[in-house]
Amino acid sequence: MHRKSIKGSKSNKLIGKSIVLGITGSIAAVESVKLARELMRHGAEVYAVMTSDAKKILHPYALEFATGNPVVDEITGKIEHVSYAGDHDRKCDLILIAPSTANTISKIAYGIDDTPVTTVVSTGFGKIPIIIVPAMHSSMYKNPIILENIDKLKNHGVLFLTPKFEENKAKLPDIDEIVQAVIRKLHVKDFSGKKVLVTAGPTIEKIDDVRFITNNSSGLMGIKLAEEFDMRGAEVTLVLGHTKLESYVKTISVESFDEMHDAVMSNTDADIAVFTAATSDFHVDQPCSGKISSDSSKTINLIPNKKIVQEYSSNSKAFVVGFKAEYGVPEDELLRRAYDRLSSSNMNLIVANEVGKEKRGFQSETNEVFIIDKTKKVYHLPLENKEKISEKILDIIKKYIN
Ligand SMILES: Cc1cc2nc3c(=O)[nH]c(=O)nc-3n(C[C@H](O)[C@H](O)[C@H](O)COP(=O)(O)O)c2cc1C
Repeated sequence: MHRKSIKGSKSNKLIGKSIVLGITGSIAAVESVKLARELMRHGAEVYAVMTSDAKKILHPYALEFATGNPVVDEITGKIEHVSYAGDHDRKCDLILIAPSTANTISKIAYGIDDTPVTTVVSTGFGKIPIIIVPAMHSSMYKNPIILENIDKLKNHGVLFLTPKFEENKAKLPDIDEIVQAVIRKLHVKDFSGKKVLVTAGPTIEKIDDVRFITNNSSGLMGIKLAEEFDMRGAEVTLVLGHTKLESYVKTISVESFDEMHDAVMSNTDADIAVFTAATSDFHVDQPCSGKISSDSSKTINLIPNKKIVQEYSSNSKAFVVGFKAEYGVPEDELLRRAYDRLSSSNMNLIVANEVGKEKRGFQSETNEVFIIDKTKKVYHLPLENKEKISEKILDIIKKYIN
């Protein structure tokens, strides 16, 4: 088998993992090429297995081309089901059936194996993690017998993803959601038992009832960190400011500095707290009610806000990681300012980034950061997507906690 090279690597989270992708006779089979490629972008080796009805919708060549591996569309003298999912030297770390027809769900629930997909599942059942992603018309999905079969399989430890209900159909969820579920299932749980608080995004400070002051933070860095902690087994609370982005982790949405402050201070029992939010440094002295007239000039008086991270670290036993954004300063000055902030606080680590540079900081998919500890040890994480930066930040945090 050769490993197919792939452009646009997203993370290393599935490196060394082999996934059997079972494809059945749903029209959503056309999505499986994209799904296979996304799994590969996180490092997985993908082996496609198809039912004969799936082949009426998508040609196996498409999956052979996408994965770089032969497609199993019948069980032959090579006993593919045993080499993929048998007890000894099996290739497969997880079986993902996406899309799964009502027919295949019910066959698996009754232990029937008369297709390549159901035969691989029968062989690995109870030993290999199985994720099933149903796709069908809503009327089929609501069939009480199908629902009973889904429940039966859930009771046996099979993970089902909830379909996206649109146009009277139970459709496949977004590809990203399927990939995240696979990663979560396979990821090492090195933060399990830890309670983690992450703040992200900007806050807004009202000028009047329709205008406000804010900043350009998207919240992506904090969201990626929160999701990385979740994948690695932590119990995560994300306090998320005014942003269009959202996350699947438990989220408290806030708008103003005061709301951010209150949400953070009601979570002082965390073991680890990471403050990535670009909280407003000022609030408007006496915001007006209604809409200020634009007929004449106005002076706005800005009052400095408290530093939430300072107050938090004085009132919590958490391992505290702060973020410090600077604009247009050279690297040595960035590090000096970040270390000054760290040493004058109860924080344990500080993550410094220069948000004035292209492809870094606010609104960017990528970042370059420096992590500094109390002994002035500096870790440099060069420019990479924020998912990979998060992975590495957690690896560094792990060195400091037990
Ligand atoms: C174009 C087309 C689309 C279909 N879409 C679905 C579907 O989304 N979900 C489903 O459960 N069955 C769907 N079916 C019916 C299944 O293909 C049929 O139940 C078949 O027996 C499934 O076999 P398999 O589970 O072995 O793939 C579709 C059939 C056709 C021809």
